[in-house]
Amino acid sequence: MRTHHRKSWIWILLALVLLLSLGAYAFVRTGIYNVAADEPHYPATTALLEQVRQASVRARARTLEVPKDLMSEARIVQGAGNYAAMCTQCHLAPGMQPTEISRGLYPAPPNLTKEAVDADEAFWVIKHGIKATGMPAWGESMDDEYIWNMAAFLQRLPELDAAGYQALIGKSDGHSHGGGETTPHDHGSSPPESGAASHHPDPPGMAPHHATPAKATTGHDHAPGTPPHVDAPAHVDPPGAPAHEH
Ligand code: HEC
Repeated sequence: MRTHHRKSWIWILLALVLLLSLGAYAFVRTGIYNVAADEPHYPATTALLEQVRQASVRARARTLEVPKDLMSEARIVQGAGNYAAMCTQCHLAPGMQPTEISRGLYPAPPNLTKEAVDADEAFWVIKHGIKATGMPAWGESMDDEYIWNMAAFLQRLPELDAAGYQALIGKSDGHSHGGGETTPHDHGSSPPESGAASHHPDPPGMAPHHATPAKATTGHDHAPGTPPHVDAPAHVDPPGAPAHEH
């Protein structure tokens, strides 16, 4: 009697394992899971992901040594120029409306004009990015000092109104760092008043990224219910395409 019972339990267990494996296989292969960015996670999933991210960032940021002069005005001003050039389309700026990117990303980028992020955590996130979100790893192209400067600026950002923000950007040297290059380069030759003046021409078709962010959003708008319109650059035949009339 006893051995008989034990045997049926083993079969039930095996059946369960088989069912679970089949379920997992079906979940992975049938496409039943919706990866769309416009369908939110279950609240429990969101809460879990949030905890994992916070704990992960905290554990790593703890080991960093924050520069003693972090909140020096020079750092904040320099960080402001880079923030305006690289971050506002997702994280916005004082006086700036949400953008198509900031509205469409999931998880949504936090509005950094509203919440301050501790400098060490901000540094870590800016340098390394966050997997499977829109947050890039800027450490690929930026030296640590420039990243600390942006972390410093982020401490000031929530206190700024649009005028204060523009004043800081005006004092900054615009976009300056080792981006793309391996060594930082000097923009000291441009007068401070020129603010975000270009140190290189913007490539054709690209909105001037040294302009102030409030302005950068003009020149391209979708009125509600807009009929088809031309945003894209003019049609260019791919190389090798036979010549044809339009
Ligand atoms: C393409 C969009 C995009 C750009 C550009 C971008 N970020 Fe992010 N960033 C995100 C998203 C999305 C998150 C949130 C990820 C998450 O919720 O896990 C994030 C998170 C962060 C956080 C963490 C906020 C917190 O509450 O812990 C900081 C700090 C940050 N970004 C700073 C920057 C800075 C500085 C720049 C410019 C150098 C920048 N980001 C550029 C999308 C972007």
